[in-house]
Amino acid sequence: RRWSHSPAGLAGLNSVTEEDLAHFAKILPSSSILSTLSPSATPSSELEPFNNDWMDKYHGKSTTVLKPRTTQEVSEIVRWCNQRKIGIVPQGGNTGLVGGGVPIKDELILSLANMAKVRSFDDVSGILVADAGCILQSLTDYLAPHHHIVPLDLGAKGSCQIGGNVSTNAGGLRLLRYGSLHGSVLGLEVVLPDGTVLDQLTSLRKDNTGYDLKQLFIGAEGTLGIVTGVSILAAPAPQASNNVMLALPKFENVQPLYKEVKRQLSEVLSAFEFIDRTVYDLAVKHGQGRALNPQDIEGAECFVLVETSGGNREHDEQKLNSLLESLMLAEEPLINTGVLASSPAQFSALWAIREGLTEAVSKEGKAYKYDISVPLNKFQEVVDKTREHLRSKDLLHENAVKYVVGYGHVGDGNLHLNVVAAAYTPEIEAALEPFVYELVASYKGSISAEHGIGVMKTHALQYSKNPTSIEWMKKIKALFDPNGIMNPGKVLP
Ligand code: FAD
Ligand code: MLT
Ligand code: ZN
Repeated sequence: RRWSHSPAGLAGLNSVTEEDLAHFAKILPSSSILSTLSPSATPSSELEPFNNDWMDKYHGKSTTVLKPRTTQEVSEIVRWCNQRKIGIVPQGGNTGLVGGGVPIKDELILSLANMAKVRSFDDVSGILVADAGCILQSLTDYLAPHHHIVPLDLGAKGSCQIGGNVSTNAGGLRLLRYGSLHGSVLGLEVVLPDGTVLDQLTSLRKDNTGYDLKQLFIGAEGTLGIVTGVSILAAPAPQASNNVMLALPKFENVQPLYKEVKRQLSEVLSAFEFIDRTVYDLAVKHGQGRALNPQDIEGAECFVLVETSGGNREHDEQKLNSLLESLMLAEEPLINTGVLASSPAQFSALWAIREGLTEAVSKEGKAYKYDISVPLNKFQEVVDKTREHLRSKDLLHENAVKYVVGYGHVGDGNLHLNVVAAAYTPEIEAALEPFVYELVASYKGSISAEHGIGVMKTHALQYSKNPTSIEWMKKIKALFDPNGIMNPGKVLP
């Protein structure tokens, strides 16, 4: 297997020039253009948030950020860039975790931040049509008085955009209940790499009229076009939601617990999230959520957060209470204890622990994040083997790797293996890669369950896609984007 890290795909592309800027000034008002080139001469510090990713791991050198307000403006910018062979990086909320949303060199950044209007909502069908730049939380807030929710939820909801969610095929905390965006996205509006607007913004639930082109853009990470509008099926807001944090004496209990929880809660189960002890302790250390009573969780090796959402509070609470009772009274209990939320504030505090793990890890150090699909019974083994491997390389200490932790979406078979280091170093990276990818391949898993490939994993795509699949992915890319301007160097090796 080849093991090279140099990003491909940027050869033959041009930098933005002052002449290009003069053209963009005919399309956009000056307030929508940030550029260090004259005559704009924006201070480079203003471009930093666009050039650096959320983890401060990937750093671009773009001179220019454009913030179009309409699909027509996006189309005119893209048409010009295609003629001039200028690479474009579409950028949403810049919360991606694989370096896909920042340039590799000085590609132009096209931010969707100024396209943030809800276009329509039908409270009978539940179909929401919105600009791609709408922030996920703002869509949730918009839908609340209409008694609906977005069928997607993630810790980055306050910053990520629906167009970014679609482009990464984000999974998150509600996938167990509502399925993936491949099912809930009904239509898309996309500006193709030659500037053509592909209008597939249908609001139909059923439409079997040949190839379903929109699916190609879901998870394409901006390599095939720019998503400008999204039609999505919102779900009716549950009448009642509840949650419980379960502390487990050992990891081996997670699988039988999941089976039992599914059996007893059946249709009201809406989340089943795994948190190992080390990452729980990091969340507490860094003030995420409210810590559980230390005596209650003494000896707990890991935790599971279970959520129910349903149509009848009494019925759901009854189910959750009898689940807890049966778990506690069992001859060989699978859990040490369960902390049941008894108020909306407690409900949010329990979720805050789970949703705060990413931030806790990033406050502790620099995280190497491996977002993998492996069989559920291998979650702990993956974490332990990785830790032992780093120990064998003498890299497990305060000045190198501080912690190896695991958390994730059990119901989706998705483990987040995080290696928390004092700094990003070539030595640690060389110890982790291809080690982790080989490990994942040995379980026939996926090297990316939900975060995508971005720039981080292009060289590892071969572990999850066979040569025929990669060849056809490349053919599709060449068909849509013969000049290779759309997010160059991302996804494809
Ligand atoms: P960006 O980061 O801006 O971009 C991501 C990719 O999509 C890039 O390749 C970019 O070029 C492309 N892109 C963005 N907008 C468009 C567009 N309009 N058209 C074409 N391409 C576009 N991810 C999960 O899957 N599940 C989680 O539970 C989850 N939790 C997270 C929690 C935290 C605290 C953080 C920081 C991240 C989390 N993520 C999670 C990762 C990230 O939030 C998601 O990938 C999210 O969908 C990215 O959206 P964004 O708008 O920030 O996109
Ligand atoms: C999560 O599930 O918390 C997210 O995917 C982010 C992460 O992996 O840290
Ligand atoms: Zn996740």
